[in-house]
Amino acid sequence: MNDASLYSLLATRERPSDRSPNDEEIIAGLCAAQAEISPKYFYDLQGSALFERITGLPEYYPTRTEMAIMSEYAGDIAGSIGDGATLIEFGAGNCEKARALCALIEPKCFVAVDIASDFVRDAANGLRCTYPALDIHVVSADLEDEIELPADVPRGQRLGFYPGSSIGNFEPEQALRLLRRIRGLLGEGGALLIGVDLVKDEAVLEAAYNDAAGVTAAFNLNVLRHLNRLIGSDFDLRDWRHRAFFNRAKSRIEMHLDAAVDARVGWLGGKRFFRRGEDIHTENSYKYALGDFARMLELAGFAQQFCWTDPKQWFAVFLARV
Ligand code: AVI
Repeated sequence: MNDASLYSLLATRERPSDRSPNDEEIIAGLCAAQAEISPKYFYDLQGSALFERITGLPEYYPTRTEMAIMSEYAGDIAGSIGDGATLIEFGAGNCEKARALCALIEPKCFVAVDIASDFVRDAANGLRCTYPALDIHVVSADLEDEIELPADVPRGQRLGFYPGSSIGNFEPEQALRLLRRIRGLLGEGGALLIGVDLVKDEAVLEAAYNDAAGVTAAFNLNVLRHLNRLIGSDFDLRDWRHRAFFNRAKSRIEMHLDAAVDARVGWLGGKRFFRRGEDIHTENSYKYALGDFARMLELAGFAQQFCWTDPKQWFAVFLARV
């Protein structure tokens, strides 16, 4: 949905009873004792563009490390997959990683699954120019829900692709459930190529989420602008500050937005007062130990696994078979 249709949808919602289930979820999160916003709301058009900038930042090592692993072991990866697969990318974003993979494995069909479908549709169209014979589908889906693929997506030789350690943005139990759903979609004979960020030195982790140029801060704050459109709230972005740190006990980076002043926030049918220093928890990004992630894959039904890492073991790419 583009911005204009979002605005017109909002304009038709005059009573709280017109709220969608997503609005209810957002409002429940804002009203919780520890206020929270699901990280899936980061990805409006502006948020997707900001995330793309994050992936190129010097401090943000995951994207370039994953790409280095993929190019170093391209031959092994391609050899284990084979040509003519149906490539299904989860959280496809700008489709750049799929583009590189397409050059390697020459799939017959590509399915881009993403919550931000407008952004992905443009990216998928770009891919169409490079691979005119590739059968391309764009599926708009929230990975927390059931994912339905179009009926004409071939059933055999499905390769799931979930790069970027986006699996780390789910709670471990949710991540396991998602991997099980992905296994169901891939079917017998299917395989999953998945990137996972690994536990490492705190300073490296914290720098990646507190970049000097302030792009991650802008990405975090942008979620409030998105909410203002979605639920008609009146967050003033100037009242909020980005904060990110590594929670070692939970093995995750946490992102929060801290109120810099006493802030009253209203929305259609409700409001909340945030005292100065109170915060909204906006994201967790789990960092796994290699063995723990391998076990999770096994629990999800991916018994046979190959794993490639970089020399510093900062990031891992798994190829796991159903
Ligand atoms: C999409 N995801 C894997 C990113 C991460 O590193 O958890 C999102 C992100 N948040 C801040 N920077 C990047």
